[in-house]
Amino acid sequence: MSKPFYITTPIYYVNDRPHIGHTYTTVLADVIARFHRMRGEQVFFLTGTDEHGQKVEKAAAARGITPKQLADEVVANYHELWKRMGMTHFRHIRTTDADHRAQVQQLFKRLLDKGDIYKATYKGLYSVSDEAYVTEVQAKELQAQGLAHQLVELEEETYFFRLSAYQDRLLKLYEERPDFVQPDFRFNEVKRFVEGGLQDLSISRTSISWGIPVPGDEKHVIYVWFDALLNYLTGCPANGWPPDLQLVGKDILRFHAVYWPAFLMAAGMFLPTTILAHGWWLMGEDKMSKSKGNVVRPDTLLRFGNDALRFYFMRDMQVGHDRGFSFEGFMDRLNADLANGLGNLASRTLSMIQRYRGGVVPMPSVFDVSDQEVATQLLQVFPEYLEKARANDFHAALNALWTYLRALDGYIVQAEPWKLAKDPANDPKLDAVLANLYRALRATALLVAPVMPELAQTLWESLGHTSKVAETTFHGFALDGPAVGPIGDPKPLFQRIDKEKELSDLETGAGAEVHRRPGGDDPKGASQEVKREEAAGPVETKPTLDVPEIREVVDADTFFKVDLRVGRILEAERVPKSDKLIKMKVDIGLEQRTIVGGIGKAYEPADLLQKLVVVVANLAPRKLMGIESHGMLLAASDNASKPYLVAPPADAQPGFLVK
Ligand code: MSP
Repeated sequence: MSKPFYITTPIYYVNDRPHIGHTYTTVLADVIARFHRMRGEQVFFLTGTDEHGQKVEKAAAARGITPKQLADEVVANYHELWKRMGMTHFRHIRTTDADHRAQVQQLFKRLLDKGDIYKATYKGLYSVSDEAYVTEVQAKELQAQGLAHQLVELEEETYFFRLSAYQDRLLKLYEERPDFVQPDFRFNEVKRFVEGGLQDLSISRTSISWGIPVPGDEKHVIYVWFDALLNYLTGCPANGWPPDLQLVGKDILRFHAVYWPAFLMAAGMFLPTTILAHGWWLMGEDKMSKSKGNVVRPDTLLRFGNDALRFYFMRDMQVGHDRGFSFEGFMDRLNADLANGLGNLASRTLSMIQRYRGGVVPMPSVFDVSDQEVATQLLQVFPEYLEKARANDFHAALNALWTYLRALDGYIVQAEPWKLAKDPANDPKLDAVLANLYRALRATALLVAPVMPELAQTLWESLGHTSKVAETTFHGFALDGPAVGPIGDPKPLFQRIDKEKELSDLETGAGAEVHRRPGGDDPKGASQEVKREEAAGPVETKPTLDVPEIREVVDADTFFKVDLRVGRILEAERVPKSDKLIKMKVDIGLEQRTIVGGIGKAYEPADLLQKLVVVVANLAPRKLMGIESHGMLLAASDNASKPYLVAPPADAQPGFLVK
């Protein structure tokens, strides 16, 4: 039997309930797992929870319960959420599971016997918040960021993993396996880190009791990351090894791309094929996190359906990059693509087949040029979608498919089927149009099934199938094959969201738990946000603004002289010797511009890629550090905060005039 496709998510800490950041990773894994099943492969999909360590110990103590009680409680939340969202993992592994505990102790012992783990005394700095020893370079970085208070001097006995001995083998691995880490720019960060030199890694603690004890030396507890990473081994069924795809957030890539392969090399095991690092869902400029009080819980968004959230995640997030979350953007996306786009196309097509052909899908006899064009486009977009999805780029896959669906609207407008239906002489043309639309919808149901399993099944049945779309395979599917029978009952695919109402509910408190950005980094403000979060109401903060008075009045004519355009950032890199300036290539629809912006303290170049921005397009060019900048990006800020790039809605196009 061939090896199954083995895919994993990180295992989640149990010191917090899941928010949409956690949900995103598991949705991505589930979409990929379903996609591979529809390619005819057997799939093992593993997710789970990371239950040991100081953070959990502290969170439990704060609540007066044991760490295991806390873990059980949070795990129940995860189980419920995954069930509600129809996740198709075959096991939710817990690091407190007996088989895992045995696995970790066994491997620890093996590496100890082999000499890859040794006991020594550590003397140096320790970061309490990261639960990790800190090198001199890292300490300097923390001091520069004003975080020196997190560091304490420490002298303790600990077990080390001989990581330094693996530096060359890791570099060789990176060289030989260009797909080991994706995307490229994250892989480069990993390489640079390892090239900078590796020190041995402390993998035990005496200061913590909540964890797996070192076998034979029980005052030591095994470090959470050694324990956590091995979950992928414990959870792997026979013949599944090695993992084909491991999904991680960018914040935990180093653990997966450096420590993890080194542990496996030491154990003499095969390495995972690919580690894919995704970006973060941000709120404003910040990562969503409980301590910042800006989290969005999946419940808030699941009111609009499971598929809605899954689709939004896949369509809006380009894997690898960060993406700002906004409730408004979420609703706009669903209304535009599901209620209008696909929903509209399906209901129009099905009602025309019902009305003009009594529900029987016609087999066309002739295709004119425009019919042929639409049929050819389907033959192109189908493999294009599959290829992009195979590369885990559902953002691009869905983009291509929706571009095609939009083109079909134009096809209908041009063909005017309602006029064709008036004269039987037009029957061949009407047949061609209806058949083309039917085939497009059928292919769409199939392609989107991994992303939106419920919606795809509804559409599949409306098109006359009685089978399960998820059990159909892409391979060999006859795109121009006849319909299986008459069409079924058309059911609405997606209920349009009343955006105004949702937003006003949010203002008045009737809406769900969607949070506004808390006021700055003030820790007091943040803790207030957390309290409000517990009260589960919407959060409205009124930060003190540090801004000048409103500027002098200008007339409309003067204002309209300024040409503002929607642009998309295609490339971004730091200007050498400047921590503030970033040089970008921006597509403004009519042309591409080089623009240098002073946003380097607020944004990383990688996180700017593909962002939509507003460009002052007719600003006189000027030179900044020797580079000619042709235009300017609009950003909002007060004197105290960093610049926030002004972002048009996700479905705006480069070149749109802002007026
Ligand atoms: N327990 C470790 C992982 C151990 S894996 C052997 C951990 N847990 S976590 O709960 O903090 O994070 C789990 C995953 O959720 C990480 O991949 C992290 O990147 C992801 N996310 C947490 N917040 C996120 C966003 N705001 N956006 C996207 N993903 C985010 O780290």
